[in-house]
Amino acid sequence: MKNIKNICCIGAGYVGGPTMSVIAQKCPEINVTVVDLNEKRIAAWNDDNLDNLPIYEPGLAEVVEEARGRNLFFSTEVDAAIDKAEMIFISVNTPTKTYGIGKGMAADLKYIELCARQIARVSTTDKIIVEKSTLPVRTAEALKSILVNTGNGVNFQILSNPEFLAEGTAVEDLQNADRVLIGGDIDTTEGTEAVQALVDIYAHWLPEERILITNVWSSELSKLTANAFLAQRVSSINAMSELCEKTGADVNEVARAIGMDSRIGPKFLKSSVGFGGSCFQKDILNLVYIAKSLSLDEVADYWEQVIIMNDHQKRRFAANIVKTLFNTVSGKKIALLGWAFKKDTNDTRESAAIYVADYLLNEQAEIVVYDPKVTEEQMYADLDYLGTRTEEENRKLLKVVSDPYQACEDAHAIAVLTEWDEFKTYDWEKIYERMLKPAFVFDGRNLLNLHELTKIGFKLSSIGKPIVEEARKEPVLAV
Ligand code: NAD
Ligand code: UDX
Repeated sequence: MKNIKNICCIGAGYVGGPTMSVIAQKCPEINVTVVDLNEKRIAAWNDDNLDNLPIYEPGLAEVVEEARGRNLFFSTEVDAAIDKAEMIFISVNTPTKTYGIGKGMAADLKYIELCARQIARVSTTDKIIVEKSTLPVRTAEALKSILVNTGNGVNFQILSNPEFLAEGTAVEDLQNADRVLIGGDIDTTEGTEAVQALVDIYAHWLPEERILITNVWSSELSKLTANAFLAQRVSSINAMSELCEKTGADVNEVARAIGMDSRIGPKFLKSSVGFGGSCFQKDILNLVYIAKSLSLDEVADYWEQVIIMNDHQKRRFAANIVKTLFNTVSGKKIALLGWAFKKDTNDTRESAAIYVADYLLNEQAEIVVYDPKVTEEQMYADLDYLGTRTEEENRKLLKVVSDPYQACEDAHAIAVLTEWDEFKTYDWEKIYERMLKPAFVFDGRNLLNLHELTKIGFKLSSIGKPIVEEARKEPVLAV
């Protein structure tokens, strides 16, 4: 297989953008062109002002600045980039289906299929096609069938190379990946050569022992499995958080105690208002759907419980606000700190904040939101998408401000929904003075200092921290 001189990546989103930026940074002799149908997104990637890049990730602007215009290009000319490239990454979105068979569970592969058809139509030379998007196991088969049946004599090799980056740490995750997984047709010479071409790219900056090679199906399924295991840890600790609140145990102490067992490990044990993000829920639902379609009902039920627990955690957080505020939030101002699904990203997909806000709006609360990176337009789009009430009502009942102190002024309660570091640095005495009393804070991220805030006078409720009065009231063991 010839050397790779030109790479095309279809999809300039949270995966395509950062991944290709790092490949371009680390492989200066390869031209990398990232293409997308979304003109606005491409224009933002090309913006001279790096603050206007479409994705906020610490460290990303610096990588883009180093490579853009040198060997990194962002373009809407999809056909031209496909034709020129020897290797094409597909990084388009694979959301949960919202219609037809598998609605609400299966991955919608229409964008993937469109890419395959476009590649088949445009290509005049042999290509290696790399699945970077997260796909159901055996998707490569469908891709191959579309590509080889075009009859224009071009040879395609299909590789699976799932992406494991987490948003907010994407650049660091890419530059220093725990592992890179490449699935290919390793039983054939052509397949092995294609795998080697991709290995050579990653070997520019990663030691070869971190590059794992498997068959295509193992690679596709490993990605879904990794996300399912990670999400399962969060749901597991969140399940314990409810038990902690009722028994006088502290979830942070429990997490620390179990995390020091080297078999369990300390990561992904932070109890929270519920996991969000574009991947966990979508990929587990997809896994559940695959299991169900293979009549593996127990397997499907097992993984579905991770989602059920997560939905419960979001709901019970919101319900606790209503209960604590004397069983009504109607007409009460509640400040939400944070809207992104985690810190250090402007991404809001499946953020717990959206569901907590929706719950409180149903209870007629007046919500004011502050998030350091998420735009007002995005917040309204997220709420409107749920379709619970009209766009006008959403804009009337929920306001967005750019000053956290303004958000909290005259509020009955504050809910911390994203773990932004800046929230810890606020002048909490000043916030307390300007709030209505009793001043309630609901910390959905265990971010704030319980002791200090209580000393100021706040009534602080943290996830998984004992609600002492209740623990005393309710017997733990039935007698
Ligand atoms: P995204 O929505 O941010 O980006 C996808 C982009 O693809 C969009 O800009 C869209 O306009 C473009 N696109 C769709 N169809 C196209 C076509 N036919 N031609 C050109 N452009 C097209 O999605 P994302 O978060 O980058 O995720 C992409 C894939 O990577 C998904 O399968 C996802 O599951 C997976 N993934 C995501 C993450 C993450 O953290 N976001 C991590 C690992 C894997
Ligand atoms: C995840 C996977 O981590 C990544 O490997 C995959 O490629 C894409 O999906 P991402 O969704 O970007 O990445 O972020 P992640 O750090 O995994 O967090 C997901 C959600 O879980 C966030 O809402 C986060 O706040 C929450 N979380 C994470 C917890 O509540 N507790 C934890 O201990 C860890």
